[in-house]
Amino acid sequence: MKSKMCEMFGIDVPIFAFSHCRDVVVEVSKAGGMGVLGMARMSPERVEAELNWIDEHIDGKPYGIDVLMPSRFDDSSDMKFDPEQLLPKEHVDFVRNMLDEAGVPPLPEAEAAEIKREIVKGINFTPQESLAMIETALKHPIKLIVNALGSQPVELVERAHAQGIKVGALAGKPKHALRHRQAGCDFVVAVGTEAGGHTGDVSSMVLWPSIVDAVAPMPVLGAGGVGRGRQLAAALVLGCEGVWAGSLWLKTAQSEVTPEIKQKMFEADASDAILTTSVTGKPCRTLRNRFSEAYDEPGAPATLPAPTQNYLWWQEGRTRVERVRAKEFLTYPVGQVVGDMHEEISVKEVVYELLNEMLDAKERLNDILD
Ligand SMILES: Cc1cc2nc3c(=O)[nH]c(=O)nc-3n(C[C@H](O)[C@H](O)[C@H](O)COP(=O)(O)O)c2cc1C
Repeated sequence: MKSKMCEMFGIDVPIFAFSHCRDVVVEVSKAGGMGVLGMARMSPERVEAELNWIDEHIDGKPYGIDVLMPSRFDDSSDMKFDPEQLLPKEHVDFVRNMLDEAGVPPLPEAEAAEIKREIVKGINFTPQESLAMIETALKHPIKLIVNALGSQPVELVERAHAQGIKVGALAGKPKHALRHRQAGCDFVVAVGTEAGGHTGDVSSMVLWPSIVDAVAPMPVLGAGGVGRGRQLAAALVLGCEGVWAGSLWLKTAQSEVTPEIKQKMFEADASDAILTTSVTGKPCRTLRNRFSEAYDEPGAPATLPAPTQNYLWWQEGRTRVERVRAKEFLTYPVGQVVGDMHEEISVKEVVYELLNEMLDAKERLNDILD
């Protein structure tokens, strides 16, 4: 395919796969697209191990990384959580009572303290730690760094460009995209509200062309709601140079999602991918579950700001729930395309299905316009 994003990375098809799972990253790149590993808040040691594995398995194909990087190295204000500061008792009781009543056993005393320490470490990730993680990644043949938290710091953009690495960032509004262009990004990812994970409130149908126009001629990837070939075709028709998809890979045999959560996804429809602040404190599209629904009931407390709500959920909820795989509480970030997920298939099959349906859409359009 002749798109600016294919030319930029020397890839066959402009399908960019965001995934926390290295197997998905490798398979998408090998199928002709571009795998991007979500590193969230990994330690440098973990980054080294994951990228070594990718380098050994990817047959020299290009791949990228996605990081949570504050736009200035001295700015970590919205990522700090003070574990000494007690979680409000009303909130802790709310979660504990909910799980007790549902028969979800508490964490064993012996493990609880260590689990909590690990959670705090993951949440209180400093800019210096982000930098150490990126330094490690820069020693690998990565071709792309994408930031989820805004524009990258200028120093990082310059370092990346000096090594021939391209830089992109996620945008939910044209003004974010313009800021990324100003910061030196090579392209932007326009994320519509349909997307899994943290997302804004404008739909892809409206957002994609508005960002394309705002930053032209800079290339834009359409994200949010790409689960099939007709949506890939729509992104191209709306002016995008390719797509960035995250939820789609969760149904694959290679994905990191447990069989129980995968099954819940296969049973869900589009409206079960709810936008909720209950998991992280910020609007995050995630699979409907009893925990999130409890916050909508009369008498429930309002959710806490980020990252305290995230800490509450991990400490008091998620760890307890996942130990015993309590189905009604199990959840995972996923977008509205969950309604189109019905069975497990391989990553390669997903890519081929996307391309086949896109070609059908092209023929249909040709027939209509002829
Ligand atoms: C399970 C999951 C985890 C995500 N985590 C991140 C993340 O750590 N960093 C990030 O930039 N985006 C993250 N996203 C959002 C994706 O980058 C992407 O914007 C989104 O998945 C696109 O919409 P779609 O889900 O409809 O494909 C996540 C998405 C999912 C589904």
